[in-house]
Amino acid sequence: MTKEFKRTVELNSDHEIGGFSCGVPELDAWLRDLALRNQKENTSRTFVLADGENVVAFYCLAAANVERELLPSSKQRDSPRDVPLISLGRLAVAIEFQGLGLGALLVRDAIARSLAATEHVAAKFMRVDAKDDDVAKFYERFGFTADPRNPRALYLKFPKR
Ligand SMILES: CC(C)(COP(=O)(O)OP(=O)(O)OC[C@H]1O[C@@H](n2cnc3c(N)ncnc32)[C@H](O)[C@@H]1OP(=O)(O)O)[C@@H](O)C(=O)NCCC(=O)NCCS
Repeated sequence: MTKEFKRTVELNSDHEIGGFSCGVPELDAWLRDLALRNQKENTSRTFVLADGENVVAFYCLAAANVERELLPSSKQRDSPRDVPLISLGRLAVAIEFQGLGLGALLVRDAIARSLAATEHVAAKFMRVDAKDDDVAKFYERFGFTADPRNPRALYLKFPKR
């Protein structure tokens, strides 16, 4: 199954998103109502896996920053007051495609795209906000570590140059 879905592409207006359902209505609504608008306004980029034009999975990325004091204490060293990062935003797989490795494919793809972006715009971490403790465990599989004060906020440090 995953053989057919190797690469993400940027969401565009030809993609079919109206019927997307991942089991979390807020995420479905975000894709349907806001993803393309945010794309145009440069407030997030959405990348999708599509079966033809039919979107079966997506995530979004945006530039962000965080006050050093709000980072886990282990990550505050050698940082300016405002620390640049890349935010991995909404990420979801359509219900009928869950459990097939597509979520893992999306996270790896998001890390690869973010690393490529840091060639031109510096960022010290990727950050993701997990919607529950279970999903936080899912992100830990890819090297994200949870903030002990807020276990649903997870960080992945980019390698030093
Ligand atoms: C969470 C989600 C993205 C996972 O995608 P998926 O395609 O089902 O996951 P994968 O098949 O790639 O799973 C990869 C591994 O993570 C594990 N995993 C999947 N979902 C998990 C979860 N919710 N919690 C913990 N581990 C999970 C799988 O068991 C699998 O482990 P294995 O490699 O040992 O078999 C998907 O279930 C989803 O879209 N859920 C609804 C929306 C959501 O919760 N999004 C996260 C918003 S923060």
